[in-house]
Amino acid sequence: MRKFIVAGNWKMNTTVPQGVELAKAVVEKSQNLPANVELVVAPPFTHLVSVCQVLQGSKVALSAQNCADKEKGAFTGEVAAPMLVSAGCTYTILGHSERRQYYGETDAKLVEKVKLALASGLKVILCVGENLDEREAGRHFDVVTEQTRNVLYNFTAEEMASIVIAYEPVWAIGTGKTATAEQAEEIHACIRNVIEQKVGQTVAQDMTILYGGSCKPSNAKELFAQPDIDGGLIGGAALKAEDFIAIAESF
Ligand code: 13P
Repeated sequence: MRKFIVAGNWKMNTTVPQGVELAKAVVEKSQNLPANVELVVAPPFTHLVSVCQVLQGSKVALSAQNCADKEKGAFTGEVAAPMLVSAGCTYTILGHSERRQYYGETDAKLVEKVKLALASGLKVILCVGENLDEREAGRHFDVVTEQTRNVLYNFTAEEMASIVIAYEPVWAIGTGKTATAEQAEEIHACIRNVIEQKVGQTVAQDMTILYGGSCKPSNAKELFAQPDIDGGLIGGAALKAEDFIAIAESF
């Protein structure tokens, strides 16, 4: 069964007390959401333990925004997957375009990260997406296909059940420019096809594929109505509990 997910990527925003307040507001407003929609929040590392306490007993899951490509040891400043589990995470985002762009995250490194995350029992929200130059050159299908294959094809069908894909066109992130529902749908269908080629139709049909990039209450309904869009990875609008919940209510 395909799962619908709305995940909030808080990025490098909020202090710990602000994050706790935001999480409380999300929990409070999430009581009446339909049972088939899963809510996830991804605060900064420093907030995880405190936010986990707020989420206890709620239906909101906790995610990290990244994890290390090493299991443990002398890697100053890094945070390993088992540490995230011990802080209460059930998910981690990996391969966000901001990590690819500013921190040199490669597909090869991502394979290591995904392996370690899955081995620790975390579910992964794996981000893919083309930048503006690539879209304008008409290379968006190729770029997304390659990113998806380079990482996902290293995993079995069983492992893929713990992976969610997030398609985030870089030109739509934080710009107020959303991909149209048609533009997003055709890439989502392409990603599902790439998965199907490797592991078959059943697994591909069960896979959750999220859209991210200036998703907000006013456009979520149209995006989520597409057959291959199974929810959203939300940036800016996830920092306001009201907007975040309104997006989740768009299903
Ligand atoms: P915005 O919703 O702010 O465009 O960010 C999207 C994103 O990058 C989520 O990971």
